[in-house]
Amino acid sequence: MRIAVIPGDGIGQEVISAALRVLARIGDVVDGGIRCDVFDWGADKWLAESVGLPEGSLEVLRHEYDAILLGAFGDPRIPDMAHGRDILLGLRRGLDLCVNYRPVPLQGGSLDVYRENTQGLYVGVGGTVCVGNTAQVAIDECVYTRDTVERFMQYCLADLRRRGRARVTLVHKSNAVPNTGGLWQDVFRRELGRLPGLEGTEEYVDAFCYHLIRDPTRYEGVVTSNLFGDIVSDIGAALMGGLGLAASASINPETGFGLFEPVHGSAPDIAGTGAANPYGALMCVVLLLRHFGLETVANTLHSSLSEAVGTRAATPDVGGTGTTSAFTDEVLCRLNAKLSGELMSIH
Ligand code: NAD
Ligand code: IPM
Ligand code: MN
Repeated sequence: MRIAVIPGDGIGQEVISAALRVLARIGDVVDGGIRCDVFDWGADKWLAESVGLPEGSLEVLRHEYDAILLGAFGDPRIPDMAHGRDILLGLRRGLDLCVNYRPVPLQGGSLDVYRENTQGLYVGVGGTVCVGNTAQVAIDECVYTRDTVERFMQYCLADLRRRGRARVTLVHKSNAVPNTGGLWQDVFRRELGRLPGLEGTEEYVDAFCYHLIRDPTRYEGVVTSNLFGDIVSDIGAALMGGLGLAASASINPETGFGLFEPVHGSAPDIAGTGAANPYGALMCVVLLLRHFGLETVANTLHSSLSEAVGTRAATPDVGGTGTTSAFTDEVLCRLNAKLSGELMSIH
């Protein structure tokens, strides 16, 4: 397995070094091993060389790698995140990763959030009308194509069925934003009609957020547009216990190519202090292994993570006193014990 690793900025680098330690151990037990190549794209390169996503990289990623593992971007020296948009949105759009799966494990149930990842308000269509240097009018267009919403919806509904889900909620705002909202409703209803056994409901995003916080067990699966999904998934992260815990997979529905990244950002407020929780990044490794059908080793890592997060070695954001590397040590210690136990039971 060949993984392109893009640590990025701030705690992105810290949580990805934890993931690389774990991947090195897992590579020992996976047929053919795991090769990780690290790419230095991020704020330093942008500032030194004015390069975000280097020319030709999409081709290299498509042809020479099976998946991407990414940390996060964001640097106070680049206040508008221009480099992060160039790299991250460039990867999502350029590799056509229109499905962003963001699971929200909860006590007494769990929620699967699917966010469209390439269009909507993120298409970069718009501009400003200035008088002098001062913007008087600012426009960001929200664009959706039927083709993308259909491909997204077909993948998500099939994936929810595969996960044994009975209910799915479309989160939209068609009362105020009727054109794209109406397209989403039309595609949702048509695709649901083709998939008996999945019960669909539709909720306005404002009321949905209200209900989600009061009683997340109302929901099993959520499909939604790009910006709503961004916001809803941070609420989901709060419900599961913190942004440091949340993982995501961005998938091309046709090729299956995947980019795995934690939901959080570069967290400049804690970067360099050792307080970054690598759990979300390590859960990305779990999602990646599952994506490649390596269910057993994925489950072994998942249970090592669940056990370790209940110890004092957990990071302060989830109530522990550990550091990024102490928590990773704790995970590796449990993972090693389980992997050698599993090997012993084979021999
Ligand atoms: P953030 O997710 O970086 O941080 C929000 C809060 O959560 C902070 O208090 C932070 O300390 C905490 N937090 C986040 N991840 C944590 C972890 N793993 N362990 C412990 N605490 C954690 O969001 P922000 O502060 O709004 O953004 C910072 C920068 O990151 C900005 O430049 C933003 O644009 C960028 N960003 C990038 C991505 C990405 O690359 N995928 C995602 C979100 C934000
Ligand atoms: C995320 C982030 C990104 C997004 C930003 C950094 C562009 O918030 O991955 O959730 O909005 O998609
Ligand atoms: Mn976000």
